Amino acid sequence: MSENLEELSEEYKIIVRDLMKVYKRGQKEVIALRGIDFEVNAGEFLSIIGPSGSGKSTLLKMLGALDRPTAGVILYDGHSVTTLDDRRSMLYRRQKVGFVWQIGNLVPGLNALKNVILPMKLAGAPSRQSNDRAMMLLEQLGLGPRINHKPNQLSGGENQRVAICVALANNPELLLGDEITGELDSETTEIVMEALKDINKEFGTTVINVTHNPKVAEYADRVLRIRDGLIEGQKHILYGDITEIDAKGRMVIPETVRRLAGLGKRVVLRATSDGLLISPLDTSGKNGNNNNETETN
Ligand SMILES: Nc1ncnc2c1ncn2[C@@H]1O[C@H](COP(=O)(O)OP(=O)(O)OP(=O)(O)O)[C@@H](O)[C@H]1O
Ligand SMILES: [Mg+2]
Repeated sequence: MSENLEELSEEYKIIVRDLMKVYKRGQKEVIALRGIDFEVNAGEFLSIIGPSGSGKSTLLKMLGALDRPTAGVILYDGHSVTTLDDRRSMLYRRQKVGFVWQIGNLVPGLNALKNVILPMKLAGAPSRQSNDRAMMLLEQLGLGPRINHKPNQLSGGENQRVAICVALANNPELLLGDEITGELDSETTEIVMEALKDINKEFGTTVINVTHNPKVAEYADRVLRIRDGLIEGQKHILYGDITEIDAKGRMVIPETVRRLAGLGKRVVLRATSDGLLISPLDTSGKNGNNNNETETN
């Protein structure tokens, strides 16, 4: 069954299909992404979680058109991001995307207000308007009393909130965050993540935030788990654990779920009025003939 991506783009803001990235380090090749598939709704808050080296930052760079994949597709509003030339990828980044990194990308010599005004100035926005928007953003993130402070006069959490304002300055539709709370204590992490959630709700900004911290991941509507360059599973706050069924009908059941349900290597599938029931294969001979047997791996 081949997918109609054009039709699917009417439903989703972002579609990622079969995304692969191979880095070459001298003679050695590192496969950072092995075929990633997912979709993002407009206005969704998505977390991507995974261990170090699993490909999170690589994936984020592709989404932000900071690097090109080796193979695969990213569609944004139905347009390919992966085949843009340098000028168009620069325009995509400037017009659509805001980035926040682990270590704030603030200009040390400028105070908070001027840091937030800077990207608007570079984009040619009128100064009065830029000033008002910077004030609005800083107020929204609880930094009203800190606007005249320079980065070295602000706490780590305040710096990261200013960095979020900088990322939001030109009103991007998509905010990409890479381990933005990586250097913060748990109290400050909570403040920053609450602020990000407010932004997502208040402005409808689509947020994709990468982290290795499960507590941070849970601020999102949905969590994608990535391991060894592949999506391992996902969790939705409304639906619980979600897994994908590929074109061949294969499905990954996360190990934790398998263990909880007592599923071994072979399982029995039974269609019920509520959906599909997957139970451990009972070898005592009580299983009816109508059941389908399948293997898990
Ligand atoms: N520029 C590069 N050149 C070569 N290999 C790279 C490059 N960038 C990343 N890699 C490799 O690709 C793999 C994925 O790296 P990536 O930075 O995406 O992981 P990550 O999930 O963000 O890890 P972390 O949580 O430590 O930031 C790793 O094995 C890494 O060493
Ligand atoms: Mg990383």
